[in-house]
Order: sequence, then structure tokens, then C-alpha cells
Amino acid sequence: MTTPQQAEQLKRQAAEAAVGYVRHGQIVGLGTGSTARHVVLALGEKVRAGLAIKGVPTSTETAELAKSQGIALLNHDEAWQIDVAIDGADQVDPQLNLIKGGGGALLREKIVAAAARQFIVVVDASKRVPVLGGTFPLPIEVAVFGWRSTERQIQAVSDAFGYGGTILLREKGGQPFKTEAGHYILDLHVARIDDPAGFEARLNAIPGVVETGLFVGRTDILIAGTQQGIEVRQAERR
Ligand code: A5P
Repeated sequence: MTTPQQAEQLKRQAAEAAVGYVRHGQIVGLGTGSTARHVVLALGEKVRAGLAIKGVPTSTETAELAKSQGIALLNHDEAWQIDVAIDGADQVDPQLNLIKGGGGALLREKIVAAAARQFIVVVDASKRVPVLGGTFPLPIEVAVFGWRSTERQIQAVSDAFGYGGTILLREKGGQPFKTEAGHYILDLHVARIDDPAGFEARLNAIPGVVETGLFVGRTDILIAGTQQGIEVRQAERR
């Protein structure tokens, strides 16, 4: 059993290994969450030691942290060509497909991952699962307008795939949680997602669904911190 302190240590080790892939002069996608935080801190150290990079942050929280570390940031309007993006995940399956969005930054995270030549995912061992779902709900970002109707259609798609499950509107402080883009998040609790690619495509076809937390076929390299050391896996194809 891994204690929270040990998990934090494994995240930090994985993050430091990932930062070893970043080269001088690169544009780097900066993820969001407690593991990505270690990435930003490790990058900050390297920047202060002379590494020149520019970052594309996936949230205001990450942008603030990166700035405090002396990492230069590109703004939203620039046509970035991201060399490498590094981010955490809530779940990783054996094909390196992911559930992301526990922190609510999935839309920007997916835009940045899609714009990156290389997408590196850093996790502690607890994030690895044989099949997505079960212990973690799938976050789905939806437009506020008509969200109850969108919710019904999501449920219908989940039922059609045989996943069933329940949907909860994410809340914070007793109010609906709003993403940085001003949308709601519906957390879909299902036991397992056997066809993440098909499910992602079908969910994204629902008007009102802005993006899902399924990252299918996007991971190039997985770096996992385990009690036995760092494990690195390259995706077989992208
Ligand atoms: C943020 O929206 C998420 O996608 C995070 O990247 C993911 O939840 C992993 O977060 P932790 O590293 O904090 O577990």
C-alpha cells in the first residue's frame, strides 16, 4: 500500500524523468494537476540553470506557477508549434489511453496534447488500470446551455454502449463547478469503458458536448513512478 507521501515522491520522480526529454529552445506544453506541478518545478530549476524554453500552460494555476518559476509563456493567440507536452492523468490503460480532467482542465489539456509533436504522460503507479472506468468517473465538459438535455443524450450513448452508469454534475462549494472556459463538467460513473475510441467519438458527436476526458491514442511516452523505480513505455503507434 502506497502512502500519500510515497505517491507524491513517485510523481516527483516521474516528473523529473520526463523533464529529461526537454531540449534547449523547445516549446513545452505544461499540464495541470499535482504531478504536472512537479514537472513545472523541475523545469523551473533547469530554466534557472540556463535552459531556454517557452511554455504553453493548460490552466491559470499552471501559468501562475510557471511564471513564479521564471518560465516564459506563449500567449493564447500565438500559433504555437509545441515540441513536447508533459501532463499527468487520472487513469492509464495498457494501451496508454487515458482518463483526464479530474482537475477540470481537460479542454486545454487536450488542445495542447493534440498540438504537440510528442505527448509525455507522467503518473504514479496507482493511475495504471487494466481498463478505463470503475475507480474514476469520466469527466465530460458540456455547454451550460441545455446541459440537462446534453446529459440525457450522454446517458443514452452510455446505455447504447452497454456501460449504463450514472452522471453527476460536478460541484464546488455547493455550486456547479465551472471550467476556465465557462462550461460545466458532467462526471460519468461507469464500471468500465471497453471501447474508449468508439465512445469518445460518439460522445463528441453530441451537440453540447465540448470535450471528453478520454485521451485515446495520444500518449507517445508513459513515465510511471513505481516502488521499483521509473518505468518508461513508448506507445506502439500514434
Ligand atoms: C487536470 O484536469 C487533470 O487532467 C490532471 O492532469 C489529472 O487529473 C492528473 O492530476 P494529478 O496529477 O493531480 O493526479
